[in-house]
Amino acid sequence: MSSHGDPIPMISAKSGPLSGVANVPGDKSISHRSLILGAMAVGETTITGLLEGQDVLDTAKAMRAFGAEVTDHGEGKWSVHGVGVGGFAEPDQVIDCGNSGTGVRLLMGAMATCDISVTFTGDASLNKRPMARVTDPLALFGCQSVGRSGGRLPMTLVGAAEPVPARYVVPVPSAQVKSAVLLAGLNAPGQTVVIEAEATRDHTERMLAGFGAEISTEVTDEGRVITLTGQPELRPQHIDVPRDPSSAAFPVCAALIVPGSDVLVPSIGLNPTRAGLFTTLREMGADLTYENERTEGGEPVADLRARFSPDLKGITVPAERAASMIDEYPVLSVIACFANGVTDMPGVKELRVKESDRIDAMAVGLRAAGVTVEDGPDWWRVTGLGHGNVPGGALCASHLDHRIAMAFLVMGMASNAPMSVDDGGPIATSFPIFEPLMAQLGAAVSRA
Ligand code: S3P
Repeated sequence: MSSHGDPIPMISAKSGPLSGVANVPGDKSISHRSLILGAMAVGETTITGLLEGQDVLDTAKAMRAFGAEVTDHGEGKWSVHGVGVGGFAEPDQVIDCGNSGTGVRLLMGAMATCDISVTFTGDASLNKRPMARVTDPLALFGCQSVGRSGGRLPMTLVGAAEPVPARYVVPVPSAQVKSAVLLAGLNAPGQTVVIEAEATRDHTERMLAGFGAEISTEVTDEGRVITLTGQPELRPQHIDVPRDPSSAAFPVCAALIVPGSDVLVPSIGLNPTRAGLFTTLREMGADLTYENERTEGGEPVADLRARFSPDLKGITVPAERAASMIDEYPVLSVIACFANGVTDMPGVKELRVKESDRIDAMAVGLRAAGVTVEDGPDWWRVTGLGHGNVPGGALCASHLDHRIAMAFLVMGMASNAPMSVDDGGPIATSFPIFEPLMAQLGAAVSRA
């Protein structure tokens, strides 16, 4: 089943050389945050390059329900007329966040210190995912919640009428949890402190500073200590959303395994909290170069050039790198099949609570495609077969998970027999132009 509508079976097959320019869509994490912070500023925020994937469209709809004026001007240009920190209205309907964990968790944080009650729900994937990791710290601010067993959606949050600031040590490496606490701290008087042992993506911190909040990060023995002063007046911004490194991963990885390929993926954000996959691929021997390196909007950016790499080798991916490439492990496991030797991926238990259990979803499909995969609670290992030796030929379940669907479709472009997925519908959550963009590069990918 797809997240919005009937299932869309898809298939990919051995492809000719991929070549040309792959203009991937805007960054999903930054797109969600642009809409939410824009809605919490006083006045009009303008956005270019917004990702118009279903996840972000669901957040735009939610922001309207909270009282912000959100306008689509076409071609990725949007504006948000914000209501100010603490200014959210109580939505008169249930807020449906679709497939998006980022959407629901950030929205929960943003409303937790407002005197409103909100009921959240999502699709079958989102309604299985853990929400206590967010509602537990939000309770410290005075926000109450009641949901289904196991802290799952649908769930109602009663925001704190008289919020107090919080100090919270994030127990799992999660930018969504960190961001929910920071957004709640915006409407609490005094200082909110969030401590993370492992660095996760820092877009919320960077963007809050851009919107004029007083926020600082100190690196200590405990980890990164982030201090935010509550109740600022956020100033509206112009945000030019960079292209998404997590989407760039798919054309880049396809080019590395399809013989003769040479693909340019321009203007990709290389924030160190996001770029772990590219470092890993280079360590595996990928012909992947950064061209025209520059800084845009305070973020490091480069054009990525990926060429066919016949001699990839398996490596151990350092556990401490996991947070910076957490969404990229599904497609990395595909690359590992085409490498020589074993690729070990330790320290990845968060993969089990994403849109699907990503270790399980990939392991089942890769085994069906003739690859040896071993896994434990927080690790997995793929035994590479080397270029030209990957059988393929499996029909895989995407489990309502966009990145699982795209990873198997990339595999089919270089495996000996085609790869199919039962439902490519979820791809629209983050990369709605995946199929035409890959086809234009020369990939044999289509609806089955
Ligand atoms: C995201 C954080 C990550 C990531 C997700 C986007 C964000 O989730 O997997 O796709 O925008 O903050 P976790 O915070 O749960 O690791």
